[in-house]
Amino acid sequence: MARVRSVVIPAAGLGTRILPATKAFPKELLPLVDRPIIQYGVEEAAAAGIDRVVLVTSPGNNMTAAHFRPNPALEAVLEKRGKTESLALVRRVSELAELTTVRQEQPLGLGHAVLMGAPAVGGVPFAVLLPDDVIDADPPALRRMVELFDELNGPVLLVERVPRDAVNRYGIIEAAPLRPGVFEVRGLVEKPDPADAPSDLAIVGRYILTPDLFAVLERTGAGAGGEIQLTDGLRELLAKRRIYACELAGVRHDAGNRLGFLQASLYFALKRPDLAPALRAFLRTLE
Ligand code: G1P
Repeated sequence: MARVRSVVIPAAGLGTRILPATKAFPKELLPLVDRPIIQYGVEEAAAAGIDRVVLVTSPGNNMTAAHFRPNPALEAVLEKRGKTESLALVRRVSELAELTTVRQEQPLGLGHAVLMGAPAVGGVPFAVLLPDDVIDADPPALRRMVELFDELNGPVLLVERVPRDAVNRYGIIEAAPLRPGVFEVRGLVEKPDPADAPSDLAIVGRYILTPDLFAVLERTGAGAGGEIQLTDGLRELLAKRRIYACELAGVRHDAGNRLGFLQASLYFALKRPDLAPALRAFLRTLE
């Protein structure tokens, strides 16, 4: 089977959950410590052997793509000043992946955003990564999913158990266990009422998908919130082929809302030996 080489990263949302920070600034570029939120996702993809990024952005946003492209002027200055560490950090970002940018002219939903990536992906399996969901896992979540995809020969979704009263924020699957941490998907519903949810297994921002989904998304109408939902497209695809899910073994932050963003910032700062001791000492003074 074809190796998964491309990841579609939808980043054309309005960032309404973290306004006014995102009024003029792309949400995915807000920094967690010293790296934009989206860089965590691109690094995760690279660690899974996925080296082509299809970035779906809004028409006015050229900054996000620029972050992943070389910046010769900056590199020249850093080189001249002998700032070798900073230079290495800057160069590494542009070496993570080959970038293609596609525009989503209107925010019509996640399913629509993924469909915009179709020409860049081509007729081969691909990943989708939602940059708000920042995941710390070893092995990286996408790497496990690619391995499962190779084994099971069908789309793989990443899921995590969430509290019952939170199911209305996610796509929720109905699942039949295959083995510990692996499920066959029997149904999917986007943002159900807690009373109607088929389980507490929520889709958390990582998908390995097959190109037959694109034809389905072409026909998918507006669903929850009036948007073209990826979850609805997957439910239609389920009528044609088996879909699988694997449970996250790691830590996920939703960096797209205020509290989750703060938690992710602290979490990653406390993992950094150069920052953790001083940050811990500071946090103790706040208690
Ligand atoms: C999107 C998907 C949803 C998924 C969630 C994960 O929702 O539509 O199925 O569970 O991401 O973060 P959004 O957060 O964009 O409303």
